[in-house]
Amino acid sequence: MSTDKGEVTAMEFPTGSSMTAKPSFGARMKAHFKKWWWVHLIVFIVVFLVILLPVIFVGYPNIAQSQVNDSTLNITSMVIDDPTPKSFRLIQTQVLGSQSSFHPKIYSFLASVSLVGAAHAFTSVQVPETTSRDGVKINLDQTVDLSNANAFGDFAKAVMLQKDVELEISGKPELQQGSLPKTTVNYDKTVTMKGLNKLDGFNVYDVHTMNPPKNGHNLRGTVYIPNPTVMTITMGNVTLNLYQDGTLMGYSYINDLILKPGNNTLEMTAEVNYAKVLGLVLPSSTAKYGKTGIAPFTITGNSSVYNGQELPYFSNALAANNLTVDLNILAAI
Ligand SMILES: *[C@@H]1O[C@H](CO)[C@@H](O)[C@H](O)[C@H]1NC(C)=O
Ligand SMILES: *[C@@H]1O[C@H](CO)[C@@H](O)[C@H](O)[C@H]1NC(C)=O
Ligand SMILES: *[C@@H]1O[C@H](CO)[C@@H](O)[C@H](O)[C@H]1NC(C)=O
Ligand SMILES: *[C@@H]1O[C@H](CO)[C@@H](O)[C@H](O)[C@H]1NC(C)=O
Ligand SMILES: *[C@@H]1O[C@H](CO)[C@@H](O)[C@H](O)[C@H]1NC(C)=O
Ligand SMILES: *[C@@H]1O[C@H](CO)[C@@H](O)[C@H](O)[C@H]1NC(C)=O
Repeated sequence: MSTDKGEVTAMEFPTGSSMTAKPSFGARMKAHFKKWWWVHLIVFIVVFLVILLPVIFVGYPNIAQSQVNDSTLNITSMVIDDPTPKSFRLIQTQVLGSQSSFHPKIYSFLASVSLVGAAHAFTSVQVPETTSRDGVKINLDQTVDLSNANAFGDFAKAVMLQKDVELEISGKPELQQGSLPKTTVNYDKTVTMKGLNKLDGFNVYDVHTMNPPKNGHNLRGTVYIPNPTVMTITMGNVTLNLYQDGTLMGYSYINDLILKPGNNTLEMTAEVNYAKVLGLVLPSSTAKYGKTGIAPFTITGNSSVYNGQELPYFSNALAANNLTVDLNILAAI
């Protein structure tokens, strides 16, 4: 028995000795994990969350915000239709510019629109849901209420007088990238649009007397109005005052004026005091403009009326701009 035992002990000895002296690294790890796996799992989860949570809740919103900051917005078409003193229909196309490889969904949001530097926004527009991508078009067609008609008047005046007009469009859209959570970003873009630049290039030509006069209108002519903007503006029935050296000579009328982008050639009629106008050129020997028969006139805005309602924002914009044209009176009569 004892030899048997000794043999067994002897046989077991090398195995036992090798275990206590040098277990392999893999085996030790295996044993360790077998015992402590749950500690490792907890540590792993904690580390994962410590890294992931800030990425999701700090890094991702920051990346989203900086991508929104880097994007551009261009207004490529803007139609102002159906104007009333308190509202108008706005049909607009905007193009988003983005160099990002991140293409989040931007949920529909309310954007306020103001002239840069103005104290108040003139309106708010509901921007539809969009997937952010370079060149994506955003189309709007809505009736906008003029939350501040004076602020819109300032915008209309800026469009009339300035070469460039800067609009500020801002809001707080929710944005979502793939299956990441929604995050709210600040959207605040300055968009530069071309203005009418005082109707530079405005001209009146082919002026003729109307015989017999119609509704008191005794002159007819053609007006040329260049529109370098992307805007189509419905202004209704426009009345302008005609002055010569500070003296009111009469009124001119452009009916159903829709100013389209590019060159506008429109019919115009006028109601002038013939005696005063003729006195400028006749008799040719003594009259102020007798030599040439051509007199300079100043045209100033009087009113813009659409469907019987005056549109003060357009009337004021027209009144803010004085146009000068040389009219060939002798040729007209
Ligand atoms: C985004 O732009 C705003 C305003 O210019 C700035 O205050 C903010 O720090 C910018 N955010 C990021 C993440 O770039
Ligand atoms: C859009 O506007 C930005 C400035 O805001 C300008 O640099 C860019 O050329 C414009 N892009 C187009 C397609 O008009
Ligand atoms: C335009 O001309 C009229 C008449 O000459 C004058 O009363 C008015 O002040 C002028 N307006 C502007 C903005 O220059
Ligand atoms: C508008 O008219 C100007 C000069 O009268 C001309 O140079 C220009 O090409 C015209 N533009 C269009 C779009 O017809
Ligand atoms: C506008 O034109 C009408 C005539 O059509 C005239 O009676 C009125 O005085 C004008 N208003 C202004 C502010 O010039
Ligand atoms: C402009 O005036 C004409 C004649 O009075 C009228 O028939 C037309 O409806 C008016 N247009 C608008 C847009 O108010």
